[in-house]
Amino acid sequence: MEKREELYAGKAKSVYYTDEADKLILLFRNDTSAFDGQKVDQLDRKGMINNRFNAFIMGLLEKEGVPTQHIKVLSDQESLVKKLDMIPVECVVRNIAAGSLCRRLGVEEGLDLIPPTFELFLKNDELHDPMINESHIRSFAWAEDAEIDEMKRLTFKVNEVLKALFLDAGLLLVDFKLEFGRFDGEIVLGDEFSPDGCRLWDSETRKKMDKDRFRQGLGGVVEAYEEVAHRLGVKLN
Ligand code: TMP
Ligand code: ASP
Repeated sequence: MEKREELYAGKAKSVYYTDEADKLILLFRNDTSAFDGQKVDQLDRKGMINNRFNAFIMGLLEKEGVPTQHIKVLSDQESLVKKLDMIPVECVVRNIAAGSLCRRLGVEEGLDLIPPTFELFLKNDELHDPMINESHIRSFAWAEDAEIDEMKRLTFKVNEVLKALFLDAGLLLVDFKLEFGRFDGEIVLGDEFSPDGCRLWDSETRKKMDKDRFRQGLGGVVEAYEEVAHRLGVKLN
């Protein structure tokens, strides 16, 4: 597998072409960003941890019947993935109120959400990822009805699988964000699943173990990610 030129550089990952048209290399960098890139830093080991954590989660989801773009880990910070035609929409499920939900609806952090909520956001930093609904997705032709239904179905399925996985490791899956794309006519989970894109609290102490440690300047960001990986049995270097 030959790594070719860069296709795209996001805030925490870069994407490279390969010598195979339908495959890309994802590079998990140590860069960390919050508030649409307004707060940035470099966190030693974060790229390696997220790459290995993501591979572990994607492998599990694949076994549970969720199609994912992940193919294999290539190195500490790189993975080979399928090249998806990405849908510019973020799917968020929340089991417990936190983050933007609290600001938008004036509810207290920590409120149990039963049933969990499902929200859609447009992936657009300049517009600060505005909340959208299914009608916007249809009118702007970002995805078809059947694709929206499938993204929603898969997002709830991921919630069921991962809620149980994290709970067994003494962690509450508070919320998370997924991105999907198309591959061979199928809706496939893309991007990544790591503590950068979800909220995880210790189930006993409710200590934050995710990127909120960075957003809120709580410190111990990489240590928390490592602890989560350790509890799940993810092998790190
Ligand atoms: P929010 O509370 O800021 O709306 O975030 C909900 C979840 O989605 C949280 O786990 C963080 C994740 N998320 C991202 O991964 N990337 C983003 O750009 C945003 C806005 C949220
Ligand atoms: N991922 C977004 C950013 O880096 C938002 C966030 O996670 O807070 O700015």
